[in-house]
Amino acid sequence: MRFLIVAVISLLAGSLLTLIAINTLRQGTAYPNGVMAVMSAQMKSLDQSMKRNRCAASDLMPPLLTLRQLGNDLEPAFLPTQDDPRFIGHASELRAALDAAVSTTPADCAAARVAVDRVSAGCQACHRDFKG
Ligand code: HEC
Repeated sequence: MRFLIVAVISLLAGSLLTLIAINTLRQGTAYPNGVMAVMSAQMKSLDQSMKRNRCAASDLMPPLLTLRQLGNDLEPAFLPTQDDPRFIGHASELRAALDAAVSTTPADCAAARVAVDRVSAGCQACHRDFKG
């Protein structure tokens, strides 16, 4: 009888600890996953605008500005990678590409495509080095 009680208590304690561990892991990835998910959605929005030939500032600036703001969250989101100089370099390059895209209103969709392609290259450069 005593054995059974101990067995049940250990089982309950074990599953509780597993649950806590899983939740901790999930919280740890929610921030970086969230930043990447929103960035990805904004890039899709830009792509759709350009495909529909809608490249006025009012079409492109909102997603570009969101991307630029989120660019500030790259290092804090990816702790402890944030101390890696190569990671910081990629993050800075993405921010520079976005600064360039935001500061010059593209004349047409072809010009917008050039600016957005540079942003996209910034995403890919970091993924090449840091995405598992
Ligand atoms: C400075 C580095 C860095 C930059 C810049 C960056 N990412 Fe990421 N991204 C990562 C890392 C690291 C991962 C992998 C996260 C993981 O596996 O937990 C990732 C993962 C992702 C994922 C999830 C992919 C999958 O297979 O699940 C998406 C989507 C994504 N990034 C979109 C973007 C977009 C869009 C941009 C550019 C606007 C961008 N990222 C810029 C570092 C970066």
